[in-house]
Amino acid sequence: MKSIKDVNFSGRKVILRVDFNVPVDENRNITDDTRIRESLPTIKKLLSDGASIILVAHFGRPKNGFEDAFSLKPVAQRLSELIHQPVQFTQELLGPNVEAMAKALKPKEVMLLENIRFYPGETKGDVALAEQLSKLGDCYVNDAFGTAHREHSSTATIARFFPKDKYFGLLMENEIKNLNYLLDKPEHPFTAIIGGSKISTKIDILNNLIPKVDNMIIIGGMRYTFTKALGGKIGNSIHEDDKLETAKELMKKMDEMGVKYYMPIDCIVVDRFANDANRKIVKGDEIPDGWEAVDCGPKSSELFREVILKSKTILWNGPAGVFEMPNFAKGTNSIAKDVAEACGHGSYAAVGGGDSVAAVQKMQLAERMSYVSTGGGAMLEYLEGKTLPGIKAILD
Ligand code: 3PG
Repeated sequence: MKSIKDVNFSGRKVILRVDFNVPVDENRNITDDTRIRESLPTIKKLLSDGASIILVAHFGRPKNGFEDAFSLKPVAQRLSELIHQPVQFTQELLGPNVEAMAKALKPKEVMLLENIRFYPGETKGDVALAEQLSKLGDCYVNDAFGTAHREHSSTATIARFFPKDKYFGLLMENEIKNLNYLLDKPEHPFTAIIGGSKISTKIDILNNLIPKVDNMIIIGGMRYTFTKALGGKIGNSIHEDDKLETAKELMKKMDEMGVKYYMPIDCIVVDRFANDANRKIVKGDEIPDGWEAVDCGPKSSELFREVILKSKTILWNGPAGVFEMPNFAKGTNSIAKDVAEACGHGSYAAVGGGDSVAAVQKMQLAERMSYVSTGGGAMLEYLEGKTLPGIKAILD
């Protein structure tokens, strides 16, 4: 690990790539500042060394250059509150003025560049943009784990301009350590709880995890592709007909490798997709025509609780139902509570993926988990066994 821990950055101008892609409401108020707060240990370490920091971040997916709706200005304000000092914000795009600002930056001062995705070259990994960025500082630190699966100018290409002066930030280091623990030396029994609406987005992670886990709990909409593959009745529930064979193969692999897999034995079904729709509880594989499943039922929650509480290592990615609608959040909330309880008894649990993390935070259980990842797609790809470009760029 080329960690910043082992280096003193006194007097250095550090280009620090962070992931400040935080959720905002319709008035552009930040609704969850976790990603900003998780970057603070790195920022504080660099400032206490006496470095000046040029922060590079993205926000959303702007398509047409500068757009106010994608400005990082609210983030600059929030960061300034969190570090109790001004954050110079470059409302201009890269160019002589921004370069002059970076040059004039004194030790322990911080500046944040406007959304780097306002440059079309960023997402293409453009070399000229990376070179222009690299001139703003004299070393590069990547702490943007949430964006490490993107091979972009500021996450990967830029590193080649600092062959001897590129490092992982503390957040990145922590994420890698925790994910490596899950992949390399988990205590058993190891249970993976994998949910979400589509099996197609989880095939690789399932395949990579099957040889490592003892139990697999399959929840959320993706479960209905498995149920249909087994010949069950799924009514109007979400499923992917072109993945029925894949589901069969995954179940065969789990059987062959002795992995016990669990799916909801009962579920909440509705007659239309709305929080106030008519609803009832039915068996997990007996969903009547005209009804669709939106959450797992109480018997499933009991079954999962038993498995979770017996596990020494737990990985949770993906909700059990449409938890954004209060009437269908029980299954997800109950998993969050059980995983937190298991941690209280000394088990290790990692939670990742936007929806499961949001559920854990809504329940105010994040502090009780061993580890909550700031990465959605990045965590998934890491657990799929892929080499993330943002990590590779530092190691190369
Ligand atoms: C995320 O929010 O998952 C990261 O910031 C990456 O964003 P992206 O999916 O727009 O590349």
